[in-house]
Amino acid sequence: MRGSADRSAVPTTSTRSSYLVFGQPLLEGPEIEEVLDSLRKAWLGTGPKAAEFERRVAAYKGVPHAVALNSCTAGLHLACLVLGLQPGDEVITTPMTFCATVNAIVHAGATPVLADVDPVTGNLDPEQVRRRITRRTKALLPVHFAGRAAPMDELMDLAHRHGLRVIEDCAHAIETEYRGRKAGTIGDLGVLSFYSTKNIVTGEGGMVLTRDPHLARRTKMLGLHGMSHDAWKRFSDDGYKAYDVEEIGFKYNMMDLQAAIGLHQITRVEAYWQRRLAIWQRYQRELADLPIGLPAPWPADERHALHLFTIQIDPRRCGITRDEVLMQLHRRRIGSGVHYRSIPSFTVYRDRFGWRAKEYPIAARIGRQTLSIPLSPRLGDDDVADVIAALHQVIPH
Ligand SMILES: Cc1ncc(COP(=O)(O)O)c(C=O)c1O
Repeated sequence: MRGSADRSAVPTTSTRSSYLVFGQPLLEGPEIEEVLDSLRKAWLGTGPKAAEFERRVAAYKGVPHAVALNSCTAGLHLACLVLGLQPGDEVITTPMTFCATVNAIVHAGATPVLADVDPVTGNLDPEQVRRRITRRTKALLPVHFAGRAAPMDELMDLAHRHGLRVIEDCAHAIETEYRGRKAGTIGDLGVLSFYSTKNIVTGEGGMVLTRDPHLARRTKMLGLHGMSHDAWKRFSDDGYKAYDVEEIGFKYNMMDLQAAIGLHQITRVEAYWQRRLAIWQRYQRELADLPIGLPAPWPADERHALHLFTIQIDPRRCGITRDEVLMQLHRRRIGSGVHYRSIPSFTVYRDRFGWRAKEYPIAARIGRQTLSIPLSPRLGDDDVADVIAALHQVIPH
């Protein structure tokens, strides 16, 4: 599983009978029945369940248009395309993200530019963004990191002053709110992920949110080969429909088989958030005596989506490195994740863009020290106790 520890044969030293898989989702009876219903009806591809899932997510986010796709990566790619980004255009984003954020910009033919992050939130630092704006800058692509809102007022202000478009990477942020507005509805487009470790899941899956009907229509069209909108109706049972092909598009549509899971998961998004909040608060209380960094509290006018509980392990304070902690947890049969090694630490970006980690020192430091511990509504109280006990055993204090 992405982001989780390698589970090669390492001797275990704990009494846990099962491995605690990092980020394992909670799947319940209604979605299991819904998937079976799709299988029984032999309707696997895009159809009424994908449309219903779009309606439910749009209603939850309070946004008029939502386009279900097969991943957030696909959504980010289409978001860049529908905003008309061209070769040579620059998009400023964060080095503290999953590679997909940067890759989507490159796939759209534009040039990614990194700006360093805030040391407390891990989100884009608006002052660093301001310094990277050039005549070629056309868009900003903030990530609401770990579920904490990016500083959207400052970023939108920069965007307005410099005529930039804004795409919000909401892969961690379905529940995130910022000063009375929902993440993903503040910029031009917001993109959700329903990957297996996310706050609600469809296995693989994503969704583009927008208030703009033209952007929504073009996203939908480009996500299905570039076929005219009516082509979606060919997935119905009222006979053959002629369609046109208007652009050279992609095959990014979400299957009903995926939506069958999502349309029930979305009804529990708040209940799952409440469960993660209880786990989060317990971690905050019961890890407070360790010499580690804990997630910072967030302002009262924001809502954190509580996607990742990241601890910071400074080897000078802890007497142990992040990678050693990760391996020791693994030996105790507890999976953890790294979100993220900073983007410039990866070969391809160094080779292609000449980025150096030391030019983004905050992201580089977080990338070396950060560790995500399990935070899923699937966890029982005993699982949470095991994580806390294991960290107390592993980290000298
Ligand atoms: C910040 C961020 N952006 C984008 C993605 C890509 O999401 P997906 O796997 O749905 O394509 C992820 C997924 O891990 C992510 O964490």
